[in-house]
Amino acid sequence: MNKTEKITRRSLLRKIAGIISLPMIAFWMKGIDRTKATSARTKITLPNDLSEGITFLDKVIIRKNGKNVKVFSSSCTHLGCKINSEAEDELICPCHGSKFSFDGNPIVGPAVKPLKQLELHKDKKSGEVIVYV
Ligand code: FES
Repeated sequence: MNKTEKITRRSLLRKIAGIISLPMIAFWMKGIDRTKATSARTKITLPNDLSEGITFLDKVIIRKNGKNVKVFSSSCTHLGCKINSEAEDELICPCHGSKFSFDGNPIVGPAVKPLKQLELHKDKKSGEVIVYV
């Protein structure tokens, strides 16, 4: 074997390794795109004429108590079902019956974590109050 032949084999092996790795890189990139799609946030504008008490709106639960407004994600902290009802000062998950106080704290399991409270933002142009879920 001479030196030229060794270099040819190495370069051939590198090309083969490059060809084999292309599908793996493409598969990895698809995974990244999927991650981006699931982490996209939704912008929700709160209504100006918000009524007192609890309002279910899209993916959020709004609690208005006088001038105090709190917004929670309506995603149950147990397995993510959408909380869409209230009764006797409690928010109720339809899937497994977890109950939360109007402050988002778990009262009855199986959920043990509080609902995610969302930060309120004010749109400088429109003056609307918005949250991101
Ligand atoms: S998802 Fe809400 S209690 Fe299970």
